[in-house]
Amino acid sequence: MTEPRSAIGRSVDRYDGRAKVTGQARYAADNTLPDLAYAVVVQSTAAGGAVTHIDTAAAESSPGVLAVLTHANADRMFDIPKDLFTGEVPGDEVAPLQSGRIRHDGQHVAVVVADTLERAVHGAELVAVSHIPDEPSSELGAVPPFPAPDSFYFGSRLNAVDGDPATALAAAPIRLDLEYRTPIEHHNPMEPHGVVAAWDGDDLTLFDTTQHVIGSRNVVARRLGIARECVRIVSPFVGGGFGAKTFPWSHVALAALAARRVGRPVKLVLTRKQLFTSTGHRPATVQRLAVGADRDGALVALRHHVTTHTSLTDSYCEPAALVTRYLYACPNIAISHDIARLNLPAPLPMRGPGEAPGVFALESALDELAHRAGVDPVALRHRNHADVHPVSGKPFSCKRLRECYDLGAELIGWNERSPVPGTMADGNFLVGYGMATATYPANTAPCSARISLTADGEVAVASAVHDIGTGTATIMAQLVAELLGVRPEAVTVVLGDSDLPEGAMASGSKTTASVGAAIEAAVARLRAEVVRVLTASGGSPADLAEQRIPLGDIVRLSGRRKIAVEGRSELLTGTIADNLGVGGPVELNSFGAQYCKVRVDRDLGEVRVTDFVSVHDVGRVVNPKLATNQVYGGVVFGLGMALTEETILDERSGRFVTRDLATYHVPTNPDVPSITVRFIDEPDLSANSFGVKGVGEISAIGVPAAIANAVFHATGVRFRELPITPDRVL
Ligand code: MOS
Repeated sequence: MTEPRSAIGRSVDRYDGRAKVTGQARYAADNTLPDLAYAVVVQSTAAGGAVTHIDTAAAESSPGVLAVLTHANADRMFDIPKDLFTGEVPGDEVAPLQSGRIRHDGQHVAVVVADTLERAVHGAELVAVSHIPDEPSSELGAVPPFPAPDSFYFGSRLNAVDGDPATALAAAPIRLDLEYRTPIEHHNPMEPHGVVAAWDGDDLTLFDTTQHVIGSRNVVARRLGIARECVRIVSPFVGGGFGAKTFPWSHVALAALAARRVGRPVKLVLTRKQLFTSTGHRPATVQRLAVGADRDGALVALRHHVTTHTSLTDSYCEPAALVTRYLYACPNIAISHDIARLNLPAPLPMRGPGEAPGVFALESALDELAHRAGVDPVALRHRNHADVHPVSGKPFSCKRLRECYDLGAELIGWNERSPVPGTMADGNFLVGYGMATATYPANTAPCSARISLTADGEVAVASAVHDIGTGTATIMAQLVAELLGVRPEAVTVVLGDSDLPEGAMASGSKTTASVGAAIEAAVARLRAEVVRVLTASGGSPADLAEQRIPLGDIVRLSGRRKIAVEGRSELLTGTIADNLGVGGPVELNSFGAQYCKVRVDRDLGEVRVTDFVSVHDVGRVVNPKLATNQVYGGVVFGLGMALTEETILDERSGRFVTRDLATYHVPTNPDVPSITVRFIDEPDLSANSFGVKGVGEISAIGVPAAIANAVFHATGVRFRELPITPDRVL
């Protein structure tokens, strides 16, 4: 055997790569079953009021239509309050089709089921909804906001004062009081939400697209009032989620209800337009940042106040100020979140919830401070580096942020930058350099995994986790291979099925750490079992350690065809652990630095990012190719947030105007610059025994601020509202 000793650190190709590029991968809506029927949802076109009558007669008599479900005839379904700790986190807390009340535009008001998709679409067009609209309150400022309770972000302290920020601000030689705004944004995964629901007696199988098969199972069961054991969610491939598939949405239970009503399996796929009202969004924020500093730029006070919104059907708060409590050394910090209940669809986490908009404001403000104090922006970050957590006082487990700053500065050519804004040009373009800090909590959640060995020497690992395009399956194979001393390519991986050992939600950048700990627990039990078999047959544990006996032979020695063991890790770190007060003696976070160069067209006001450098300290890198790919994706998210992505709301009607990819602008290939990615790659053994921390969301954090700061450097003008579109620049 000439295999490298370590399976970790290798750029193993994606397990699912071939299936995806050849079209073999079967996504939720690709599933077809005998006798399949098709469901189409009818949605409200008003953002408030009440439905008085739904005329279904024409639809019901239309050819091929099997059923029309409305609040007048739908089965009872149950409201479910969000509870992250139990994994029961519905997108909408309020069950659909239980009353005529309208809470937001695009609310599901009827479901038409027919024998073909076309007949269902036609039937849906024949449903006539009469309603009494009322004046919707749909924009920030329309209703008075209230202080967000901690329960709105899973127990995080959303309103907290440490030290005496008011006094410190009043006495500070440098004071800034700034307002930043971020718009509503939509996730827009390539694969729309879709589900195929099939009943077998009392048992329900849902082929769904989800970042949480276990949560989806639990929510659907509670929604329908049936036992969890009767529900199975199958989701082996997910065509992107970005948060929009973390909390199960109402259409999943509606598909189940429709299938039960017509006695046939039912497929329900939301259209691109329907995704905008029925699968969440990132809410808008208005962020007020007061910064107090000494003359040399050392922070003495930070006050970060966020105003944002939730809906009438849920309780989610975008926790944008949380990051201000841990990013910099500062003795006096206050954060607060006010939230308004609006006639809008329910928001939920999107691509770095909290940190993404929060760091835009904080890192823009730090840049403003650097210019006010006459300190280089990188030097200012070094000056305010938090050696310990500024509030808890605990040390960070491993924090190589200073190296990230320095390596990034070198790679972007920070020294070539003129310190004076608005003084670098290239023909008709103004040129600017910008930077920002990135950070994200290193989260881990309880997780189980099963490992099995066959007499033929096959190794398989299974867990109800998800591969949302991030490479989970490949990483799992590498971790198993590392521990068992086999090739990663020899390990079969099964995931994305709620019947597998219970896995963690694919969110909060925690999958590798969580499933890694579960795999480690499973391998430990497997070793114990193998040693037992060896000892019973006269061998010794040394045979295993030195790999003198192939694993398959050990199975044969046991007299069985297969040895399968399940391991579980209860390891909990990061945000939820901190909220439960079980965070441990060190603070676990990933850190990074984002640098970019931009060109601003003097005539067109167009901002082009020409170079991007993203350097991260995310613990040990299991697969450099996959991790780099994650960072490419994160930088592109951040680029969209900075320059193009914005959902326009018509505040009179409470309706989103941008409802497709023609009007909601995600970056395309010509928008994306060359991206240089580097990792510090030091194992953080305080996090877990593999030393891994999350690499998903951190790469998007800080990107908008780095770009906004570069636009300031290019033009000498501050842009405190995203996205920085040409009309704002001119
Ligand atoms: Mo992520 S926004 O935690 O899916």
